[in-house]
Amino acid sequence: MRKLAAGNWKMNGTVASLAEVQALIAAQPAPACEMLLCPPATLISAIATAAHGSALMVGAQGCHAKPSGAHTGDLSAPMLADAGASHVILGHSERRADHGETDAQVRAKAEAAQAAGLVAIVCVGETEAQRDAGETLAVIGAQIDGSVPTTSTAANLVIAYEPVWAIGTGRTPTLSQIAEVHAFLRARLADHIGAQAAQVRLLYGGSVKPSNAAEIFALPDVDGALVGGASLKAADFAPIVAALSAA
Ligand code: 13P
Repeated sequence: MRKLAAGNWKMNGTVASLAEVQALIAAQPAPACEMLLCPPATLISAIATAAHGSALMVGAQGCHAKPSGAHTGDLSAPMLADAGASHVILGHSERRADHGETDAQVRAKAEAAQAAGLVAIVCVGETEAQRDAGETLAVIGAQIDGSVPTTSTAANLVIAYEPVWAIGTGRTPTLSQIAEVHAFLRARLADHIGAQAAQVRLLYGGSVKPSNAAEIFALPDVDGALVGGASLKAADFAPIVAALSAA
């Protein structure tokens, strides 16, 4: 399978950030992995235009479960595809925490995204309290079962394991903890969607940076990364893409 280096810009970036996009494309014109940036929706169209003909793909950070209608302030999956997105991040812990998104809502959004031709990047991960209580695998298993459409394929689903306590904190799980969760994800996904699970990209996310990328990418069942802060600058994201290309 082709591995995936994905950047999540969260609520960061303006038109001035297009310079970072150009720098990233210049630094990684032909990576051996897939390369994706998920900017705020205001920049999808501009980045899609800037990335045209390059290896860079563009994604969104969320969508509504309906294709259109009276939902002020929301964006639908077909709209994101129309703007040039190929992927959409769903069920990020910040959406689950800030907007109360449930597993059922994430699953409905994933179905809508896949129906619109987008790749759904479904995020799962435990809180620190859940890890301390020994509930990590139970929490993640329930999120997989509840959030992932059973009809998903390796072509329209990516899973991102993002421990909530590792996001934006500079802390990461041990390598054996990451490996344990990813092996569990592969098996649980196989129970849930069948044989396609073997080819679904499983990304790790949470304080990935140039200095720790290579050791994380060397782990079995780690097929890429979902990168937050270190995706904002080409100088940080390009070496992560290079590490994944070399893995
Ligand atoms: P950081 O890389 O900033 O820890 O964020 C990870 C993340 O939430 C990506 O979706």
